[in-house]
Amino acid sequence: MEVSDRKRAVGEAHGKLILVGEHAVVYNKPAIAMPFPLRIRAIVTEQIGEIRVSSNVYTGNLKDMPDKFMGLAQTIYRSLEICHQPKEGIHIEVESEIPMGRGLGSSATAATAIVRGIFAFYQRPLSEEQLYSLVEIGENYAHGKPSGIDMMAAANEKPIFYQKTKGASFLASPKPLYIVAADSGEVGDTKTAVEHVKELRQQRPDVIDPIIDEIEDIVWKAKEAIISGDSLLLGSLLTRNHENLKKLEVSNSMLDHLVEAAIRAGALGAKLTGGGMGGCIIALTKDMTHAEKVGKALVKEGARKVWYFSTDSKEAITVEG
Ligand code: MEV
Repeated sequence: MEVSDRKRAVGEAHGKLILVGEHAVVYNKPAIAMPFPLRIRAIVTEQIGEIRVSSNVYTGNLKDMPDKFMGLAQTIYRSLEICHQPKEGIHIEVESEIPMGRGLGSSATAATAIVRGIFAFYQRPLSEEQLYSLVEIGENYAHGKPSGIDMMAAANEKPIFYQKTKGASFLASPKPLYIVAADSGEVGDTKTAVEHVKELRQQRPDVIDPIIDEIEDIVWKAKEAIISGDSLLLGSLLTRNHENLKKLEVSNSMLDHLVEAAIRAGALGAKLTGGGMGGCIIALTKDMTHAEKVGKALVKEGARKVWYFSTDSKEAITVEG
């Protein structure tokens, strides 16, 4: 949502969770993602001179952004070009509830919020296509050749079934899903994880392609389980998906530990989410009380932070580690 009064505008976007299908989605297989109700807000205000950025990861002139954020800088410059504005005269303050490098879509979410903020500031209409192509500039820089699922999930308000060449369609469930997300505290690097899978696939296509096909099968079954409201089946598919991600070597001992702990605590299923090699796991639970119980167990087992939410709510409850 954008609030605009010419001197100040706010762009907002939420994070994302991949329910099933990450990594396989890079190879044009389908995947399912959903909004994660943690937000990033970009507050754009007028100021004289150079464009400045303030955030908890970088504060300074846009042109001096560290290398790893250069993609985001390109997204901002291109947004200004489209708005027919000079590359100066604004301050962008970024407020984020989403930790970076945890598979929660912080880069796509930040870019989405910033683009929305800039267009609202200059009172320009922003089409979905424009938003995606602008966010994609930064995503390509940050992740190499991403599937596009992160930005689609960050920009949409409902769970999506996504395939690179076919785009996204919304998924409706007869009842809400109760999800726990737990941060391992370890930073994952999606680009490295995607490159690792690519190398594995080049070395052993006979081993890796069947794993990717198996993930595809899980995703189709998960779609049916969501549509029919079969949480038990969906949970077991999540856990099966984690086993496949382990075979793709994108899990690690802490993620495996948290997945096992969630299942011991009674979760219907659990898996890593996003690029892996660090970051977060998700667990599916029966209801909010059950989610709280699983969440507390995960904190005891070493999760740095845990959130739980129902897909029919716009807020997540946080359990600190
Ligand atoms: C990252 O959130 C999801 C991956 O499948 C990469 C991508 O789809 O671009 C690992």
